[in-house]
Amino acid sequence: MRRHPNRWGFSDMGLGMGLRSKHYPDILEHNPPVAFFEVIAENYMGNFGRPMYLLEQVAERYPVMVHGVSLSIGSTDPLDFQYLGLLRNLADRLRVPWVSDHLCWTGVLGRNSHDLLPVPLTEESLRHVIGRIRAVQDFLERPLVVENPSSYVEFLASSMSEAEFLCRMAEAADCGLLLDVNNVYVSAFNHGFDAMEYLSVLPVDRIVYHHVAGHTHKGTHILDTHSDHVVDPVWELYRFCHERTGGRSTMVEWDEDIPPFEVVFEEVQKAAVHRRTVEGDDFSLPERPPPSLAPRREDNQAPHPAGLESPEAGDLFVREKNVEFAHE
Ligand SMILES: [Fe+2]
Repeated sequence: MRRHPNRWGFSDMGLGMGLRSKHYPDILEHNPPVAFFEVIAENYMGNFGRPMYLLEQVAERYPVMVHGVSLSIGSTDPLDFQYLGLLRNLADRLRVPWVSDHLCWTGVLGRNSHDLLPVPLTEESLRHVIGRIRAVQDFLERPLVVENPSSYVEFLASSMSEAEFLCRMAEAADCGLLLDVNNVYVSAFNHGFDAMEYLSVLPVDRIVYHHVAGHTHKGTHILDTHSDHVVDPVWELYRFCHERTGGRSTMVEWDEDIPPFEVVFEEVQKAAVHRRTVEGDDFSLPERPPPSLAPRREDNQAPHPAGLESPEAGDLFVREKNVEFAHE
C-alpha cells in the first residue's frame, strides 16, 4: 500500500470516536485505546462550566478534534465573526491543527435552522464559498477541512456534480476535505449517482480526514441518522478510500440512540479490521491512549500528533453560550 501525503503533511492519527457525554465515565475511568476524540464545537464554545471541565479531563488524556455544525459557509449571511472568535478560542485551547465543518448552509437572515442544508452546485455559489473559506482560514490561522454533506434534494440550477464542486473548491480555496464515506453512500442512493466514481475523482492530497457512520434506510431514501452500525457497503467504500490515500485519520460517528461505549468502540475495531484488509497495512489499535495534547497546562507545548503546531490562543472575545446540538 502506498501512502499518499496530504498537502499539509498531516499524519494519520488512526481511529477515533465522537465524544459524547454519555461516555465520559467509560473514557475517564478506563482510558480506552482510542486514538482521538472529536467534539461538536458549538457544545463547548464560550462554555467554561462543567462541559468544558469534562472536556479538559478528556483532552489531558487524548487528542481532541474540533468539528463545527454552524459555520454556514454556504449562507448569504455575512460571516459571523463572533462565532468564529469562539471557534478559534476552542481550537487554540485544544491545539488542533485544523477545524472542520460542512459544505452547507444552516441559516439565513440571522436564523439558525440547526440543519445542514445543501448548496446549489453552481459557478456563483462556488465563488461565494471559496471566498468565505479563505476568509475563515485567515481568521482561524489553520486550514478549514470541509465535509461533503448528505442530502435529500438537489437544485435544478446546479451545473456540476458535488464531486466536481468539492475538487474545484478545495483547490481554489486551498482547504482540506473531510470525506464522510457514509454521506457519499447516502447521497449516492438518494440521488442515483455512483459512489465509487465520486470517490475516485476527489484529490487525495486534499483529503485529511474520514468520517464513517450508520444510517437509516427507508426504502425509497436513506436518512443520515448516525443512529446505527456502519453497514457493509460503507465499509467497502471506506476500504477503497483507505487504499487510495494510504491512510487518513478516521472517526466513527454515532449521535442518536447512542449505545454503551463498548458498542461504538466495536465499530472502531471494525474500522481497524477493514484497514488491515488493504494489502501492506498492518494497522492495529494502540494498547493504550496516545499522548494527549495536554492543552490545559501552560507548561505543555507538545506538538499535535497530526503534525502541525497550532498558534497560541489569542485574546479573543468570549461569551457564555451552551448550545446542545442534536448531531453533526
Ligand atoms: Fe460526518
